[in-house]
Amino acid sequence: MNKLMIKLISAALAFSFSLTVIADHNTEEALQKRTAPIGTLNVASAEVETVAAEPRDGVTVYNTACMACHASGVAGAPMVGDIENWTPRIAKGLETLIANAINGFQGEGVMPARGGNPTLTDEEVGLAVEHMVSLSQ
Ligand code: HEC
Repeated sequence: MNKLMIKLISAALAFSFSLTVIADHNTEEALQKRTAPIGTLNVASAEVETVAAEPRDGVTVYNTACMACHASGVAGAPMVGDIENWTPRIAKGLETLIANAINGFQGEGVMPARGGNPTLTDEEVGLAVEHMVSLSQ
């Protein structure tokens, strides 16, 4: 056997050995073992994100769900900034105002529950009421 033959044979052996290593690395089982913990972690973090979703702030809620009536006074809605109209309402206490905004309220006009937007949380309606009150006293 000459030197060239020996070099070729050892190169071929080294090559097939490395192929075996790569093939073993990518077996179904090996892949599952390597990816399983990452998959579980993703599911868990997605659930946490849903629970911890930030509430929309009072200005955003007011602008999207309340302004249509409360900026112009549609159907007897107390206009934001109309201190005379808001003073006796504010005297009922913030808690009562928030409860009336959540559940709906009928005086001379009708305030629909959550301004007619059932996707708003209690907290979001409360933040909108606080925003409206802060501009009306
Ligand atoms: C479809 C029109 C309409 C929308 C939309 C609306 N309101 Fe009203 N709201 C009214 C009317 C009308 C009244 C007055 C009811 C009365 O006292 O006669 C009122 C009254 C209120 C009051 C005073 C309640 C009280 O006890 O005096 C609050 C607080 C209030 N609305 C908050 C909100 C908030 C917060 C939103 C948005 C999430 C909202 N409103 C959306 C029509 C609306």
